[in-house]
Amino acid sequence: MTMTRRLALAAALAAPLAAGPALAQTTITLQHALPATSHYGAGAAAFKETLERLTNNRLRVTVQRNDNEREMIESVQIGTIDCTITSTGPVGNFVPAVRVVDVPFLFRDYPHARGVLDSEIGQGLLQQFSARGLAGVIWMENGFRHLTNSRREVNSPADVRGLKVRTMENQVHMRAFQTLGALPTPMAFSELVPALQQGTVDGQENPIPVIVANNLNQVQRFLTLTGHVYSPAVLICNPGTLGRLSAADRAHFQEAARAAQRANREKVSADEASGVEELRRRGMQVVTQVDTAAFQTALAAAFQQYERELDGALLRRIRDWR
Ligand code: PAF
Repeated sequence: MTMTRRLALAAALAAPLAAGPALAQTTITLQHALPATSHYGAGAAAFKETLERLTNNRLRVTVQRNDNEREMIESVQIGTIDCTITSTGPVGNFVPAVRVVDVPFLFRDYPHARGVLDSEIGQGLLQQFSARGLAGVIWMENGFRHLTNSRREVNSPADVRGLKVRTMENQVHMRAFQTLGALPTPMAFSELVPALQQGTVDGQENPIPVIVANNLNQVQRFLTLTGHVYSPAVLICNPGTLGRLSAADRAHFQEAARAAQRANREKVSADEASGVEELRRRGMQVVTQVDTAAFQTALAAAFQQYERELDGALLRRIRDWR
């Protein structure tokens, strides 16, 4: 970890220090949307193991599942849970500045995304959470999103036209699917499988680790490796919870957050390496050769809108990041 990153993380954790008395509770509740075997599960398990070990079990971590990410962020904000690992899908509705990282085809690959989020750019975004009653602790990862559907093989942007696609509750993603001529239908992940089963939507888009961990192959036949957007995740905590930690425990908390990030990213990389083959084995029809330039051309009007409505200078900085 670079010095900038270490300092920024320390600042994020130190910011809520003004808050009240020493932590009476010894249990920290951490919720996320995916199975324990997933990349979020790996991050949460590493966080729990590290924090409990470093504090000799004075701080215990309870990991729970809740597949409604908006609801989890609201719960962290009002303090009914302490922390969540969530994709940035609904985060822009709480911290609008974060919407830039949801722009399609912004990140070239995993090293680009991880590098930007760990740099002062990502740290600057994390610092904006505090104005919204949240503490952005560390960037985690969901992965590059790909399109699945039950209707047809998608080989080109034209094949997306007319598909009813579940999106996250995210304006940036919805704009992109609208521009491609799809019918974007935002809903929480908890509603996705019934919606696919009942035909309310034809398709959805998610990273390979999510498709594998949730057996979405049981409700979707076609997968196209569009990689149309990188989906960051983030560990968000209640500022009051952090403020009640002693300085020593805050340092342990930081170390546990870094362990969570490492384990989460390692699991994404492992799932990316084996997941497509696994989904083929489970019967999915996979299109691997995708003309990404054609998708980017088809999205031209959306890109112009992002430049106008989001932080255009920051978008360029991220694109140019080496
Ligand atoms: O599609 C979503 O809502 C998210 O990608 C998920 C699966 C909840 C993971 O963050």
